[in-house]
This record gives sequence, C-alpha cells and structure tokens, in this order.
Amino acid sequence: MTTQNVDHDHEVDHRLIQNENKYYAQASRINYYDLVIESAHDATLVDADGNEYIDLLASASAINVGHTNEKVVKAIQAQAEKLIHYTPAYFHHRPGQELAERLAKSVPGSEKKVVFSNSGSEANDAIVKFARAYTGRQYIVSYMDAYHGSTFGSMALSGVSLNMTRKMGPLMPGVVHVPYPDLYRRYPNETEHDVALRYFDAFKEPFESFLPPDEVACVLIEPIQGDGGIRKAPEEYMKLVYDYCHEHGILFAVDEINQGMGRTGKMWSYQQFDGIEPDLMSVGKSLASGMPLSATIGRKEIMESLDSPAHVFTTAGNPVCCAASLATLDVLEEEDLLEKSTEGGFHAEKRFKDMQKHYPEIGDVRMYGLDGGIELVKDRDSKEPNPDFANKVIYYAFQHGVVMITLKGNILRFQPPLVISREELDRALDVLDDAFAAAENNQVIIPNNEKIGW
Ligand SMILES: Cc1ncc(COP(=O)(O)O)c(C=O)c1O
Repeated sequence: MTTQNVDHDHEVDHRLIQNENKYYAQASRINYYDLVIESAHDATLVDADGNEYIDLLASASAINVGHTNEKVVKAIQAQAEKLIHYTPAYFHHRPGQELAERLAKSVPGSEKKVVFSNSGSEANDAIVKFARAYTGRQYIVSYMDAYHGSTFGSMALSGVSLNMTRKMGPLMPGVVHVPYPDLYRRYPNETEHDVALRYFDAFKEPFESFLPPDEVACVLIEPIQGDGGIRKAPEEYMKLVYDYCHEHGILFAVDEINQGMGRTGKMWSYQQFDGIEPDLMSVGKSLASGMPLSATIGRKEIMESLDSPAHVFTTAGNPVCCAASLATLDVLEEEDLLEKSTEGGFHAEKRFKDMQKHYPEIGDVRMYGLDGGIELVKDRDSKEPNPDFANKVIYYAFQHGVVMITLKGNILRFQPPLVISREELDRALDVLDDAFAAAENNQVIIPNNEKIGW
C-alpha cells in the first residue's frame, strides 16, 4: 500500500460522523479530526473514503506489533473457532494459563503472580486493591499529569484533565498526588541532579506535613509519563523515590500500560532505569494488540494477600484475547521489535532535532525508542505552550496522509507501530517537516475553528 502526499477527500468520513454524533455520547471521545478507520495493516490506515495514512499513534500505543499482524490474526481466528469464551472466574482455559506463566516470567526478579482484567484502568484498580490488602495501609501516592484510566479507582489516581473528574465526585478517597519531574522547564542553571533533588523534596513534602509514611500502601508511577507528554523521570529521582519506598515499607508500583510491551526499546519501560524491581505492575493496550485484556503482575506474596473473589470479571482473561496476547509476545521477540524501536527512535530523534534547527516552535524533542514527545512552544525562552501551532501541524499531517495527535494540547505524540518501515517513517517525517513550514507560514486552516484535542 502507498500513502499519497495529497489533500484527502473526506466526504464519507464526514457523513458517517454526523450521523454517529446523534447517538454516540461525547464523554467517550476526544475529538481531533474526522477520520473513520475502515481497515489497517502494519503501519497503514485506510479511511471510509479510501484514503491511506501512515499511523504515528498505533491506536494510543495499543498496536505495537502492527495492525492486523498475520500471526495475531491467525491466533485470534484459531482460538475463536475453538472457544470464544468461558469465564476464568470459575473454570480454566489453556491460553490464560500459558499467558499468566509467560507474563509472570517476563518480569525479572522474585517470583510473580498475575491477575487479568479487561482494561488498563481495571489493572490499576487491582494495584490499589493488592497494595492496600498486603500492607494494611490505605493511602496511595500518584502523580500529577498521569493518566491511569477511567474507572472510579483509576480516575482518582489520574491527574491530567479536569473533565475526567468534573461533576462525578466524590472520588475514591486516599489518593495524594505529587508533581512529576519536568526536565524541560527547569530553572535557569539547574542541572539534572538539581531537578531530581527539587522534585524529590516536593515528593517528600506531603510525607512531612500530613501523610504518615507508615500509612501509605504504594507509590504508583509511570517511569516514562505517557499522556503527561512522553517525559522520563531523572534516574536519580527514581532511585530516591524507590529507596524512600523501601525504607518506609511502601510498595513501588509502575504503570506500563502505555510505555510497556517494547514501546521504548525495552520490554518494560522501568528497565530504562538501573536497579529497580517493581512490587506491582499494570500492563494493557498492546498486551493483546488492542483486544480487551490487561494484567496486574506482582510479587507472589503481595498477589496472595487477597482472597477469591476480590478481583473477578466475567470477561477478563478471555481466551481469544489471551491467544492474541501470546501471539503478540511471539511477534515482539521473533521480529526483534525492541531493537527496531531503539534504532527507529534514534533515527526519528535525529530528524526531529534537525527540524528543530529550522523551526523555533520546536522547544523540546524527547525520544525513548519509537516513543516521542515533541513539545511546541511560542518561543524557546518563555517555553509557553503553543497548542494552536500543534493543532495546525497535526491537521496538516492528517490532510497529507499522516495520523498523529497531541498530548496536553501542545506536545506531538509520536508512537508509531514498532513495525513501521524506515521508508514509511521517513515519509511521515517529511510530511511533518512540511507541516511545520505550513503552520509557520499560516497556511493551515482548521475547518470551523473546531476544538481539537483534550
Ligand atoms: C499509562 C496509562 N495507564 C492506564 C491507561 C488506561 O487504560 P485503558 O484505557 O485500557 O483503561 C492508559 C490509557 O491511555 C494509560 O496511558
């Protein structure tokens, strides 16, 4: 399939979406532009008008091994013919057994056990359940700007949008948010070491004023924040927080839903840091290539702290999803996708940094494998976010065959399927280069001045 660098016609897309708007409640969608995805393969999407796009989003990092990957499709078909579902709440099936063993063994260190859920949100709810049960403590510390999900538990852990909680309170009690380190907006002359210490002081502030450490069950962190802008906490900061947790009997939990499954060039993003072994970890999204499956993996003794049926869902651990997941794990290994992510990331980073020399709006380029946040600003001194410019860039890209969205309004989210070819990657980056130029020259007009993004 080829992706043409032309203005696309969207007549069918528009018509379908106009009709859909009569029935589909807006709470469940963040609007970017009118795109009805009809089919997809590897890193190519096809819309209802027959237009083709290079996908730089991978369904929000849920399709790391590529769309309709042959091996995953075959595994789904074969399992669907044998057994679509029988609830693991009561009986057993082989794909679930095999996957639990494989996931438990995928996390190095002490012995692990696994529970399945349907969504990433529920996997994070499980972290709260097990952390509270094991420690007998009630408080959870999580981070501002984090997205942990949309159930009542996980939305309380999140801190990225007022509309995620507005009108729905009271939320689950017992959550305290601390700021996530921001290396880009550091103070003048601050080193990375200074930033790590400043944010560690901010981390300790609640513990020293109102939050007794011996009442805290766990700290939940994204080692690389996803919706917070693809930003990595400084190594030193992570180690300080990790050691603080150990010192005070607080469990250290990581959310790998967005950043795991090879996205950053490591199987799990916490492996980007030395000397960290999480007590609990949530996985989802690409786990089953976008099929509804998530897992919480934890140290054996923690996972044995709750009795049946503390975390049971009729459809969690569905055998078709588990079969898709086993095939996905095979593909990650067989096609060397971790290595591909690392190499592709270096290449993309270099190209974005070259573009940064030409476009003053590109304030920061962060890239960890094929996992990037390109921060767009009004000027590099003030670092004031420039969502207007970002919207123009992604709208131009969309019109020219590249699908990309933003984070926090002004950060380009770069997360293509890891199978993207070098040629496709370069073609998409060429379009983005043109998009920066067009946005700078005020040549991008967004129809009806529509609100785009969060
Ligand atoms: C880091 C992180 N955690 C949890 C979730 C929630 O996962 P789900 O949407 O499958 O409930 C997301 C989804 O974007 C995420 O990015």
